[in-house]
Amino acid sequence: MPQIPEKIHELTVGQLAARSGAAVSALHFYESKGLISSRRTSGNQRRYSRDALRRVAFIRAAQRVGIPLATIREALAALPEGRTPTREDWAHLSEVWRSELDERIKQLNRLRDHLTDCIGCGCLSLEACVLSNPDDVFGERLAGSRLMVEGRRA
Ligand code: FES
Repeated sequence: MPQIPEKIHELTVGQLAARSGAAVSALHFYESKGLISSRRTSGNQRRYSRDALRRVAFIRAAQRVGIPLATIREALAALPEGRTPTREDWAHLSEVWRSELDERIKQLNRLRDHLTDCIGCGCLSLEACVLSNPDDVFGERLAGSRLMVEGRRA
């Protein structure tokens, strides 16, 4: 990974990409979503402050564990004066996100277990297949057209 001399306070998009490991297109995308920012030179080239490196590292680490960009943006926006996340910020957020990740893993395990029932079946039945209609809360107490009839009476 190329080192950037300490005396350099601003980075080009190419330097930021090389140092962070993120593609230039990803950096442009992050910027378009308000996750990082740059200033423009008189020649209309982007320049990033050095702390953009830490912001990009934060974004990529969060993305690797499946945190949506909108959630990452909220976390960055919640930092005072738009500052770059500190070690303590990351420690706190990673703890919060860990419980979300645990819940997602549980859901995926449940889906995997249900998928086992589907292998070789192919019915995709709204009544029998949990994967074809996983959130069928009405199905637990009503079936088929009874919901429509009940709705008309109301
Ligand atoms: S496809 Fe038949 S149970 Fe899922």
